[in-house]
Amino acid sequence: MDRRPRVDPGAIRGAANGVDEPVRVRPLDELDITAVADIAERSGGPRDAGFWEDRVTSFLRRDPEGALIAEVGGRAAGFMLGEVRRGEFGIAEPTGWIEFLGVDPELRGRAVGRLLAEALEAHFRARGAVAVRTLVDETMPGVAAFFASLGYAPAPMRPFVKSL
Ligand SMILES: CC(C)(COP(=O)(O)OP(=O)(O)OC[C@H]1O[C@@H](n2cnc3c(N)ncnc32)[C@H](O)[C@@H]1OP(=O)(O)O)[C@@H](O)C(=O)NCCC(=O)NCCS
Repeated sequence: MDRRPRVDPGAIRGAANGVDEPVRVRPLDELDITAVADIAERSGGPRDAGFWEDRVTSFLRRDPEGALIAEVGGRAAGFMLGEVRRGEFGIAEPTGWIEFLGVDPELRGRAVGRLLAEALEAHFRARGAVAVRTLVDETMPGVAAFFASLGYAPAPMRPFVKSL
């Protein structure tokens, strides 16, 4: 049974700059996994449908409202996955973590990412989060500038890595 389009009173709509079609943000479901994988792969994420199926399913199991998809004209335009956790890396305050995001390269610069982030932040706030954090890969052009535009500042915590 195809459950789309779904009426979602919590959906957020915003004008897409320069586009007639509004952006609609809603919680995603299993039927959206292919679209998420397609956008993620075209955004430089892992080219592995199984990876995205695992990740999205895991988020849906833990907190379905932390997995969002944006649509423009009924077409998937972007996604954002996050969750509120306490105690990660010794951070005691309830924190919303943005873990995955991607906007269709053809639909960037039209506030799709901003609307996704605002919707996820609202969900984090409703879940008691007092801050939102993410890790930015500095080799991915534009992501740091995107978060800076949304009011995020670099944190003093730095990731360290060692190959095994
Ligand atoms: C970062 C990303 C989400 C931005 O999405 P977007 O829909 O184009 O962003 P928006 O149009 O909502 O822009 C919001 C703000 O960020 C700024 N911004 C977005 N991309 C930017 C860029 N490349 N350079 C500078 N600023 C940028 C915009 O100017 C805007 O600022 P303003 O609101 O003050 O005018 C998108 O480029 C993307 O998906 N990048 C790849 C992410 C990735 O690597 N994912 C891997 C798979 S997890």
